[in-house]
Amino acid sequence: MQKYNYPKIKKEVETLVKNACFKTVTRDRIWEFHIIPVVRFSKELGGKFGADLEVLELAALMHDYANILDRKIEKDHHTRSAELAREILAELSFPENKIKHVADCIEAHRGSVRQKHKTIESEILASADAMSHISEPVAMMHLAFRVLDNKVIEGASWLRGKIERDWEKMMPEGREIIKDDYEKMMKMLDDTIKRR
Ligand SMILES: [Fe+2]
Ligand SMILES: [Fe+2]
Repeated sequence: MQKYNYPKIKKEVETLVKNACFKTVTRDRIWEFHIIPVVRFSKELGGKFGADLEVLELAALMHDYANILDRKIEKDHHTRSAELAREILAELSFPENKIKHVADCIEAHRGSVRQKHKTIESEILASADAMSHISEPVAMMHLAFRVLDNKVIEGASWLRGKIERDWEKMMPEGREIIKDDYEKMMKMLDDTIKRR
């Protein structure tokens, strides 16, 4: 196995992503309200499954990197972020097999339904991404109403659909962690939508 300094690599990646997050104007506080929770849930689930926590942490940090840099990249941001991760990690001399693993996780994180994942790390990242939408309802409302410019009922309906799809694609162990928040959020959205 190729020798590498993980703490240093992690620090470099963290700084890169964090700086990009603080520069973006469209997604307010994406570092604290999206990236950090995705990293946290990835590590929490990763610990339960004995997954590769280095792969997971780097994949979580970089999973949305392309559309943090450029908001216009949305539909294929998973592919673009995977490409960027490959370049960045190669530059930092992270082992090749692990780079491929990180890139595969990032590539597979987007998808509105639960899909077959090649590895447990890939499945965990997709779940952690979905969980972060539920653990950060205020940031999601910012997205629904401010970024996407929806009216009250339309935004609530949009958000309900999104949270429902997130729940669908989440692994059972993720659901267990986020269940109370999910129920609270659904109740709040339903109470709004029924007054349509
Ligand atoms: Fe994403
Ligand atoms: Fe994400």
